[in-house]
Amino acid sequence: MKKVLVTGAYGFLGKYLIKELLDNGYSVVAFGRKKEELDKLKQENVETYVGDFCIKKDIVNASKNVDFIIHAGALSTVWGKRENFINTNVEGTKNVLYACKKNNIKRLVYVSSPSIYSGKVDRFDIDENDFDEENKLNYYIESKIMAEKEIHKTKNVPFVIIRPRGLFGIGDTSIIPRLIKANRKIGVPLFNNGKNIVDITCVENVALALRLALESKKAVGNTYNITNGEPREFKNILEELFKQINEPPKYLKISLNLMYGVSSTIEFIYKIFHIYKEPMITKYNICTLGYSQTLNIEKAKKDLKYIPKMTLSEGIKKYAEDYKRNKVL
Ligand SMILES: NC(=O)c1ccc[n+]([C@@H]2O[C@H](COP(=O)([O-])OP(=O)(O)OC[C@H]3O[C@@H](n4cnc5c(N)ncnc54)[C@H](OP(=O)(O)O)[C@@H]3O)[C@@H](O)[C@H]2O)c1
Repeated sequence: MKKVLVTGAYGFLGKYLIKELLDNGYSVVAFGRKKEELDKLKQENVETYVGDFCIKKDIVNASKNVDFIIHAGALSTVWGKRENFINTNVEGTKNVLYACKKNNIKRLVYVSSPSIYSGKVDRFDIDENDFDEENKLNYYIESKIMAEKEIHKTKNVPFVIIRPRGLFGIGDTSIIPRLIKANRKIGVPLFNNGKNIVDITCVENVALALRLALESKKAVGNTYNITNGEPREFKNILEELFKQINEPPKYLKISLNLMYGVSSTIEFIYKIFHIYKEPMITKYNICTLGYSQTLNIEKAKKDLKYIPKMTLSEGIKKYAEDYKRNKVL
């Protein structure tokens, strides 16, 4: 039985990934800093290792006798101190690469992000090479680009990079809960009447893509976009979601240019005064909510044989059923 070490094991994606791996005959080492969270993952074929991948010896020791590493752990947020993003997402990834070399890991799958394509512009059918290496819309984006560069620079570590767009599903703490909360308060911000096209992904499909990235012979040395392959108007998705959870949608129609200007000013003030609490709006949020972004996933379909196993509507329904049962955001 092949053994996979998963970083970010008890994160949103990590839990789905572990299930996908176990369901397909792998054994797993769940790696993370919080013992109490790791204990919840303990089951047959899941070992746990309490450690921090920013500490080289932790990740080296944890990955002894492991075949593969999937590095899904990250500081995954839109705001914070630059040094924390660099330390976790860049230096941490360098430690994972070091562990791969030291322990002759057969393949590293790195979870990067299509946020590197983001900007103040509509973009359609983006392929994997189509991004600005100097994109500094936020420190998260900068750190993901830097981490990818470190992976490319490192010799003798077979790698695959996966860039999954906008994950949603049960357990999500960012995308859908934020929309529902906004809907209950001031309304969901809507630019251009919500006609911008978004291209999001059921978390189950991302877990599938990561497993396929371990298995595909063609994948080594390559980078893949992952989405559901169902680009839709933002407002159209919102209406389906709010219908499913029986809450009437409330929209806050605002000017994109105005809000981008406001968010730039807020960021400027936060930076000057070293405020690390996430502002109510950021330039990145405005770009994500206001501009179209669709990804080309043909390469993943061809090389990984990636076929999404859950449609957007199925994902929304599943989320809504759980939400109506538990009312937890
Ligand atoms: N969610 C999305 O929409 C999305 C989209 C594209 C890409 N991604 C990428 O997908 C991956 C998973 O995202 P997610 O949404 O599952 O994020 P998440 O829920 O925040 O999970 C990330 C996990 O990484 C762990 N971690 C952070 N620093 C660590 C360290 N130094 N040592 C050990 N563990 C550490 C965190 O554990 P602690 O609790 O100990 O901090 C957390 O459980 C990330 O690489 C993210 O950048 C996410």
